Amino acid sequence: MKTKVLMVCLGNICRSPLAEGILKSKIDPNKVYIESAGTGDWHIDHAPDPRSISVGKRYGVDITDQRGRQFSASDFDSFDHIYVMDIRNYEDVIAQARNEEDKKKVKLILDEIFPGEKVDVPDPYHGGSHGFENVYQMLNEACEVIAEKLNKEQQ
Ligand code: 4NP
Repeated sequence: MKTKVLMVCLGNICRSPLAEGILKSKIDPNKVYIESAGTGDWHIDHAPDPRSISVGKRYGVDITDQRGRQFSASDFDSFDHIYVMDIRNYEDVIAQARNEEDKKKVKLILDEIFPGEKVDVPDPYHGGSHGFENVYQMLNEACEVIAEKLNKEQQ
């Protein structure tokens, strides 16, 4: 059985598509399945933001084929791990949890590198391209740790 991982942000066009692409680049697709979603509904079926596509390309991560979709409570049934980008996402996802088991699946992604410090991946949507570079670097570090853990889980 593949381990299933869901990356969640607000719009599903900036941060979580990058998180999906970066983690995919670090794992064995025969062992781990990864998707992303947004808590909001503005960008359903939209391609990722061109600035996310661009920073991904710079590092060899192609996210052009991804399309936006909205998080729903049924994702708790489909996924083993749900990584959220910031506290607002955390609260929005937890609000849809049906039980303790659902809640246990949800983690702030930067907890992987700054445990317990509640650090957000800042929303880069209204800023310039530097924000996207910053997001990429944070997600790359966190995904490295997640990939190592997933490898161990699979052994
Ligand atoms: P994301 O960024 O949550 O990283 O995808 C955003 C993208 C779009 C919007 C908000 C955040 N929006 O309000 O449309």
